[in-house]
This record gives sequence, structure tokens and C-alpha cells, in this order.
Amino acid sequence: MRKLFLTLATAVITASLSNVPVLAAGGGDVVLRQADWSFSGPFGTFDKASMQRGFQAYTEVCAGCHSMNYIAFRNLADLGYNEAEIKAIAAEYEVVDGPNDEGEMFTRNGIPADRIPAPYPNELAARAANNGAYPPDLSLIVKARANGADYLYSLLTSYQDAPAGTAVPEGMYYNAAYSGHMIAMPQPLYGDDVEYADGADTSMDAVAKDLVNFMAWTAEPALEERKRTGVAVMIFLVLLSGLSFGAMRFIWADVKKTGA
Ligand code: HEC
Repeated sequence: MRKLFLTLATAVITASLSNVPVLAAGGGDVVLRQADWSFSGPFGTFDKASMQRGFQAYTEVCAGCHSMNYIAFRNLADLGYNEAEIKAIAAEYEVVDGPNDEGEMFTRNGIPADRIPAPYPNELAARAANNGAYPPDLSLIVKARANGADYLYSLLTSYQDAPAGTAVPEGMYYNAAYSGHMIAMPQPLYGDDVEYADGADTSMDAVAKDLVNFMAWTAEPALEERKRTGVAVMIFLVLLSGLSFGAMRFIWADVKKTGA
């Protein structure tokens, strides 16, 4: 029994620590590329500079097709922007508001409380503009796919020429990381798609990583807090175990001495 337990425990610990290549959401023959994410592991934290670059890349490259419905401009404070910067970012957007006193909808400049406006008014409009395919909302995509961070990183960097003999239908593209390999999204990143104010690397790989850092945050803004709480709870439990053990020794000391 004890041996079985030990074997099981070892297996579980080895599996959780090892860095075996992971299979993508759809399974099959897809092997994902992996990177060291600052937010993974029990002490994980977000890389704010990278998240700001990822937000810029999302805005300039992806936002034309993909919405980010769960993020309001004021949430961007988590990326390290101050109030004035957030106001300025929001003001660059036109937001539909209303109805006004005449019952009409109208547009105005964005304010920090607004959500990031979506590129299309509804799913049908989105499909009509994308050959019938639907570009999903990206707010939660890292949580919505197995191994989300590695998957998104791989998806963005795995567009290839189809192997000889594989026919790619009109309006589809070959992507080694996508389940089934045929995706309706044209390759969004080629390298040097953005210009970063901080002079950071703009290769396809680096921009893809910035996007993953940004979208890991949009999918779970409270990740750092959750991990901090987890560590604090572990420390508390270790201290409590020590204290309980000490108390046990103290209480049983006399009993053991007399052998009663
Ligand atoms: C020209 C429009 C367009 C642009 C620009 C675009 N996408 Fe897409 N994207 C799509 C479409 C269409 C789909 C749906 C693909 C399908 O269903 O085959 C999609 C699907 C996706 C998916 C979901 C894949 C899955 O597993 O279902 C992700 C993630 C994604 N895009 C991320 C991005 C990111 C990040 C960017 C910016 C770097 C971006 N896209 C830029 C149109 C676009």
C-alpha cells in the first residue's frame, strides 16, 4: 500500500515538473513550441513592459479582426499606465453611445470606463468580412485553449508552406500548430509589423511573445494575486505544521517519560 502510494506520488510530481512537449488543443500530430513564461510557476509575475508592447501589437495588428470584449481601458492600469495615459489611449477610440434625448445612437470619444470597442457590430458582420469564418474574441483565449500560452505563441509563429501534395482550399492557410492545419486566419505576423517606442525586438518571435504576455493577463488579470495568496497559504501551513508538531511533543512528553 505504502509502496503504491509512493509510486503514485512520484509519478504525479515528475509529471508536473517535467517539461515534455505538449500536444495542442485538437490533439493529432500538432506539437507546440514552448517558451519560459514569466507568469508560469508558483511565483509567476507579469512582465509589464512586454504586456504594453503586446497591447500595442494587438491594437495595431489583431484588433482589426478580433475583439477584446472583457477589457475596459481603465483595466490597462495593470500594465503600468497612469490615469492620464489611459485617458489618452481611450480618447483615440470612437465609441457608440446612446440613445440620446431624441432616441438616436451617437458616437463620442472613448473614456477609461469604456470597454475596448469591437471591430464588428456582431458575429454575422464579422463572418461576412472573413470568408464566413469567425475571428473569436481574444480576451479569454489563453484560458480557452489547452496550454493556451504555448498554443497562442505557436499558432502565431507556425504559418508554413503546405507539404507537397496537400491542397490548401481558397481562403485557407496552412498552420502547423492549428488542429487540422487549415486555418481561415491569414498570417498576421511577419516580423517588423510594429515599431516599439522602447526599441525592443520586433521579430515575429518576440512580438508573438509580447502578445502572449498581454493575453495571459487579459485572460486572468488576478493571476499574480492568486499566486501570492497560494504562496502565503503554503508558508502558513508549513508554520502551522511545525507548531502542531511542537505542541504534540510537548503535550505527550510526560506520558512518554513515565511510560504510562
Ligand atoms: C484579417 C483578419 C484577422 C487578423 C488581422 C487576425 N486574425 Fe486571428 N483569426 C481570424 C479568423 C477569421 C479566425 C478564425 C479561423 C478559423 O476559424 O479557421 C481567427 C482565429 C484566431 C485564433 C483562434 C484559433 C483557434 O484555436 O481557434 C486566435 C488565437 C487568433 N486568431 C489570434 C490572432 C492574433 C493574436 C492576431 C494578431 C497578431 C490575429 N489573430 C489577427 C482573423 C484574423
